[in-house]
Amino acid sequence: ENSSNSKIKQLYEQTAKLYHHILVNTKLGEEALEYLHQRGMTDEIINDFNLGFAPGVDILETFYKEQDIYDYQILRKSGIFIERQEGKLVERFNERVIYPIRDESGKTIAFSGRLLKNDPQAPKYLNSPETPIFNKRKVLFNLDRAKGQIRRNKEVFLFEGFMDVISASVAGVENGVASMGTSLTDEQVYSLSRISNRMVVCYDGDTPGQNATKRALEIVEPTGNFTIEVIDIPEKLDPDEYIRKYGAVSFKSVVDNQRLSPIEFYLKYFENGRNMDNESEQAEYIDDILNELAKVKDSVQRELFVNRISDRFNLDKRGLEQKLVTLTNKVT
Ligand code: CTP
Ligand code: MN
Ligand code: MN
Ligand code: MN
Ligand code: MN
Repeated sequence: ENSSNSKIKQLYEQTAKLYHHILVNTKLGEEALEYLHQRGMTDEIINDFNLGFAPGVDILETFYKEQDIYDYQILRKSGIFIERQEGKLVERFNERVIYPIRDESGKTIAFSGRLLKNDPQAPKYLNSPETPIFNKRKVLFNLDRAKGQIRRNKEVFLFEGFMDVISASVAGVENGVASMGTSLTDEQVYSLSRISNRMVVCYDGDTPGQNATKRALEIVEPTGNFTIEVIDIPEKLDPDEYIRKYGAVSFKSVVDNQRLSPIEFYLKYFENGRNMDNESEQAEYIDDILNELAKVKDSVQRELFVNRISDRFNLDKRGLEQKLVTLTNKVT
């Protein structure tokens, strides 16, 4: 690896240390620490995930000079700064809680910073840009820490956000990673396929989360590398909110006992926005379900769901089966 990249990594390492120190030991970090405590984060978790705080005052250049790691070109490339004009760098993260993002080997390669108070004028999370060491499409939050547990449990939990991973981990689900937002990539799926062949999609229970679940299924299923299950978090909560509201035991019970197959997920998903008393909307719904069922290879599964649709809508089984065969021929 070239020396410029290892210098950028060193910069992240040192900066993460400083941000963590500011959060846990200084007056500048008091409010952020209180924010995290309010969210149920203990000092132990804050240490484990090396969370930090970027204050609203510029401190980094002085710090780097003290540490003897100041190198303008490296600072420029790191993404920790924004270049306002030639030769003028300003710190990217201001008054934000810092979540260090690490690569698979545990090296910090990017930051995400969260506002203490939601503000419609500013993004809730602000991330490092793409840099020579950070390719957002390839990285999964927490993969370095979760890898061992993913192997041991023979499955990986996929979450949307930082807090979901952290809270789930405290609740005993330590084999979780986050796609950091709602668009899972082929590269992320590929890196998971090297260590697991079972995936539990545990996205937020709200509408964006459900839409993201559908997109994740569309990316993961065609690879043929995973058995996939979906958790539908009740009350449209996200996993972190659910754990805060109902506790770890209840969360564990949901993720252990309320797993949906992709088709079961779609049975619910395709009802969204449809008036199921209206016959033409029913017909559209059934088409959508059959389209998904056509991708299922297991003949018992197919029959089970054909039976369910036939019972529910009082339709002839043979007609449904015939349609399914036609659709399957299109798929394969
Ligand atoms: N995200 C992002 N930029 C944003 C919003 C979200 O990168 N402006 C990413 C973050 O990784 C975030 C994830 O998408 O954790 C899921 O988004 P969301 O559900 O909106 O946030 P939460 O994770 O629930 O954040 P919090 O609990 O802190 O409000
Ligand atoms: Mn406190
Ligand atoms: Mn969300
Ligand atoms: Mn969320
Ligand atoms: Mn949340």
